[in-house]
Amino acid sequence: MHRGAEPSTPDAALLERLRALVGAEHDAMLALIDRLAASADAAETGRLRAENAALRAQIQALDLHASYEAWFNATFATNLRTPNTWPFTTFEIGTPWCDKVVYGMQDGEFLFAEHLIEQLDAAGIAGDIVEFGTAGGTWIKTLASIIERRQNGRRLWGFDSFQGLPEPDPVRDGGIWHAGQYAASLEEVSQAVGAGRRPFLTLVAGWFQDSLARAPATAIASIAYARIDSDLYASAVDCLRYLAPRLVDGAILVFDDWQFSLNHGETLAFREWIGTQPDLEFEFLGMNMWAHLYLRVRRRG
Ligand SMILES: C[S@@+](CC[C@H](N)C(=O)[O-])C[C@H]1O[C@@H](n2cnc3c(N)ncnc32)[C@H](O)[C@@H]1O
Repeated sequence: MHRGAEPSTPDAALLERLRALVGAEHDAMLALIDRLAASADAAETGRLRAENAALRAQIQALDLHASYEAWFNATFATNLRTPNTWPFTTFEIGTPWCDKVVYGMQDGEFLFAEHLIEQLDAAGIAGDIVEFGTAGGTWIKTLASIIERRQNGRRLWGFDSFQGLPEPDPVRDGGIWHAGQYAASLEEVSQAVGAGRRPFLTLVAGWFQDSLARAPATAIASIAYARIDSDLYASAVDCLRYLAPRLVDGAILVFDDWQFSLNHGETLAFREWIGTQPDLEFEFLGMNMWAHLYLRVRRRG
């Protein structure tokens, strides 16, 4: 929401009021600083200038927050509140209650994924299932089990460097991740996910910028379900570029590391990408406490 624009939701209206209050305080303080400067009270002026800079930073943060929410609202026709904790639980990570909440939620998400694949099968929406970023294999194993249970004949692909994350971008990735994080070897993961006894599953090693530009990736024509779990902005850019011509009408697109910011990570990659995809529309299906965003893709025309 920009200054002067009509707030479109109760949250946006609240943010706008907060922005106006902080803005008024900031302006009043500037006027006071000017008066003090005229009377040459240097110490007091310096203290107030520091306080004023903090207020300015607060205003900038509110503006960024408001523009992110306005963009999300406009893009997905959904007023989704930005949480003030991550994950969205007050239980400390690693404690037994947090584990129960987190893994209970993960089980719920596995069921949701199966439900979506069941819908794809029932609607006759053909296409492979792809995960970008398999790490130790938790999700690819789950997707493989769903395919087996449903006997739907879909192919499953897992792309990863099998060396962990590449070097994050210090600005666009916001200092959360580090190079080599989540490293798990191809042999280790193949064994963990039973690739040898699952002929419909292929794990493909390499950096996305290389592996997605050559066979077997280039031979995949249609994708009905894609999970982007590669954390970083540049990695998501590679995945989305690859997916653009392959996502079928009705496909499911999942972001495992959605950022509540227009300028970071997968959110930035998606925001830039949709600007280049006039034929695609996105229906918001849901988001869980790990900021896993589920979308349905529609092809116009
Ligand atoms: C958070 S982990 C994935 C977790 C996994 N989906 C699971 O179910 O446990 C992120 C993975 O993305 C991979 N990755 C990120 N960027 C990549 C890139 N540009 N090329 C290849 N692999 C990448 C990393 O190697 C890492 O294994």
